[in-house]
Amino acid sequence: MDVDTALRARISTRAFLPRSVDRDTIASLLDAARFAPSGTNVQPWNAHVVLGSTRERICREVRHAAVHERDLHKAPFDFYPTQWREPYLGRRRACGWGLYTRLGIAKGDHAAGAAQELRNFDFFDAPVGLLFFIDDDLPIGNWLDYGMFIQSIMLGAAARGLATCPQFSWAHFHRVVRPILGVAESRTLVCGMALGYADPAAPVNGYRPARLAVDEFTTWHGEGT
Ligand SMILES: Cc1cc2nc3c(=O)[nH]c(=O)nc-3n(C[C@H](O)[C@H](O)[C@H](O)COP(=O)(O)O)c2cc1C
Repeated sequence: MDVDTALRARISTRAFLPRSVDRDTIASLLDAARFAPSGTNVQPWNAHVVLGSTRERICREVRHAAVHERDLHKAPFDFYPTQWREPYLGRRRACGWGLYTRLGIAKGDHAAGAAQELRNFDFFDAPVGLLFFIDDDLPIGNWLDYGMFIQSIMLGAAARGLATCPQFSWAHFHRVVRPILGVAESRTLVCGMALGYADPAAPVNGYRPARLAVDEFTTWHGEGT
């Protein structure tokens, strides 16, 4: 698969087949993604692959925290704006409604919405969970590096016929996740990622959020053919 095809094939997958991914495949994916660029080559990434019983334990404990003690858990950084405004608010709403329509969740059905949110903590049934950490004294520039690393994993996965979903939602539960994985307090949980084989029959995987056209976000300057 060429890079352009992988860019277009990658989607956030929210339903996976119960088919395992072998360790060598996961290792080869990370082995390719480590060539992502980073400013002065600092390579700020720290990835944890969670499988089998560890995956089960993390999912169980985070689901428990999400259901019973949601107010006690909060991501240590803002991912979404604290004050939504246009045009971002409209795009966000379109994305949410598009997804809920595919899932058959009616507007205002908060219970079904909450249940869908909880699915994050099953990695949407993907057999592989990835959890990404960064040293908390690293500045915003290194988070830019991190995004490149994460997209590299997702493109590499697409090229291998695998599916992914990047998941900020895990960051809220860093205090639950960190001790299970033995990660130092000085590391921030950036996000999680579900990795596995997409369920082609699941309607939710057919959702393709709209994208801006190039002219809507690009300004050209100067001459050139
Ligand atoms: C950093 C990041 C965090 C995200 N967190 C979540 C998440 O917690 N749960 C989820 O279902 N989708 C999550 N998404 C997926 C976005 O909703 C998705 O990328 C967006 O709607 C565009 O859709 P596409 O990825 O299918 O092209 C996240 C995406 C990114 C890049």
